Amino acid sequence: MSRTHRIAPSILSADFARLGEEVRNVIAAGADWIHFDVMDNHYVPNLTFGPMVCSALKPHAKKPDGTPVPIDVHLMVQPVDPLAQLFADAGADLISFHPEASPHVHRSVQAIQARGCKAGLVFNPATSLDVLDWMIDDIDLILIMSVNPGFGGQSFIESALRKIEQARKRIDASGRDIRLEVDGGIKVDNIARVAAAGADTFVAGSAIFGKPDYRSVIDAMRTALKA
Ligand code: DX5
Ligand code: ZN
Repeated sequence: MSRTHRIAPSILSADFARLGEEVRNVIAAGADWIHFDVMDNHYVPNLTFGPMVCSALKPHAKKPDGTPVPIDVHLMVQPVDPLAQLFADAGADLISFHPEASPHVHRSVQAIQARGCKAGLVFNPATSLDVLDWMIDDIDLILIMSVNPGFGGQSFIESALRKIEQARKRIDASGRDIRLEVDGGIKVDNIARVAAAGADTFVAGSAIFGKPDYRSVIDAMRTALKA
C-alpha cells in the first residue's frame, strides 16, 4: 500500500550551539517535521531542552517559502500534564507522551487536544500496545520506540518491527487517520524494512545530523522508501 511518508529529523543530534540554524538547514534539506526530544532526568536518565527552547525555535520551523513545518514534541517526562501544556503554549503542533508516565492517559490526551495540538502515545520496546484497546479512537499518532528512550545513536531493536505491524493492524481496523511513527536507530539501510512493517513517519537523529550533507541523507531515505 502506498502511504505518505514523512521524515522527522530529531534535533537531539543537532549542534545545540546553533539550533535555529540547524532547524532551518534540515528543513531546507527536505525535513517534513522537526522532532523535539524532551528529557527530564527523571523518566529517562538524560536532560535536554524545554518549552522555552521550543518557542525560540518556532519561528525557524518553516520552509524557505514560509510554509510552517510541524514541531513534533516527544515528551520523555513524568509527570506529563504540566509540561504538555507549556509545550502547547510554546508552539508544538504534535505532543506525544509515554502512557506509563501519566496516571490518567485519556485525560492527558484530551488536555493536549484541547490546546489545539495533535496527541500521540509512545511505546517503549517492552511496553505492550494494550492501552490502544481503549485509546485508539482518541489519538492522532502512535510512536513506536525502536530503542530505549534517553539517547541518540543507539541500534535499532528488531522486535519493534513486529510491534509496528501490530500497531498498523490496529490503525487499519479503527478506520481512523492516525500516523504511525518510529523512533530510534533509523538509517538509510533499514528505513524500507520499517516502512514495509507499516510505519509512515520516521524519526532520524544521528543518521541525518551525523553527516555533513543533510539533503543527501534525506534524499537517500526517500529513495529507499520508494524502492
Ligand atoms: C531517543 C529519542 C530519539 C533519538 C533518535 O530517546 O527519542 O528521537 O533522537 O536518535 P537516533 O536516530 O540517533 O537513534
Ligand atoms: Zn524521540
